[in-house]
Amino acid sequence: MSVPAILAENIDTHYGRSHILRGVSFRVAPGETVSLLGRNGMGKTTLLRTLAGLLKPTSGSIQLNGNDVTASRASARSRAGLAIVPEGRGIFPNLTVTENLTFAARANERGERPWPLERIYSLFPRLAERKHHWGNELSGGEQQMLSIGRALMTSPSIVLLDEATEGLAPKLREEIWATVRQITDSGIAAIIVDKNLNDLLALADRNTIMAKGEIVFDGSSADLRADEALIHRHLGV
Ligand SMILES: Nc1ncnc2c1ncn2[C@@H]1O[C@H](COP(=O)(O)OP(=O)(O)O)[C@@H](O)[C@H]1O
Ligand SMILES: [Mg+2]
Repeated sequence: MSVPAILAENIDTHYGRSHILRGVSFRVAPGETVSLLGRNGMGKTTLLRTLAGLLKPTSGSIQLNGNDVTASRASARSRAGLAIVPEGRGIFPNLTVTENLTFAARANERGERPWPLERIYSLFPRLAERKHHWGNELSGGEQQMLSIGRALMTSPSIVLLDEATEGLAPKLREEIWATVRQITDSGIAAIIVDKNLNDLLALADRNTIMAKGEIVFDGSSADLRADEALIHRHLGV
């Protein structure tokens, strides 16, 4: 069996005294696309932030590509191949599109840069047209493209996408999904949080559902689609 891209075991995360993640174990194989579903407030963002090193778990362990990173900061996890596209996108308003992309640029651990600027611009022609615009001049969809592009500039092996298409019109949502598919088809593993169940079922190799800080389902799209009661209980559709 190959070494997992992410192997998190028995993770507990607190915000102060609030106990949020409760014994979460989560595995992503190299190149695998995993959806992370669940109602608001169930702990999805907390899990992504814990995996990325932006929150420190109170117990448990996290490995990236076989290396224990439990005690490593976000910057070290980024060097180890993990990139996060955060909820809210985190674009720098006073940098241009090109600057937002290039300041993040880094080779992977083998010294390769599979996603140079030109490749980002061919993935997102809209960004190429806006390359001299300031971050704060972009639409929501363009900001999301930029945030994804910036993650790719770090030459990741794993991308975490939080609320990937939040607030986007259907046509833009389709554009984002088409590029996410190109990214995962290139061999990058992904954990994707989004509200559009059908889009995720079509995209993901495997689906997980989180409720009250625990993983309550882990299975194929066919298995999840077949379980209407589960969908109703945890996703409210
Ligand atoms: N900064 C914070 N401080 C305290 N509690 C928080 C903070 N962020 C989130 N929470 C709480 O943690 C729980 C999980 O939140 P979150 O991970 O954002 O859920 P989701 O992404 O699934 O909507 C919620 O009850 C939320 O209120
Ligand atoms: Mg969230």
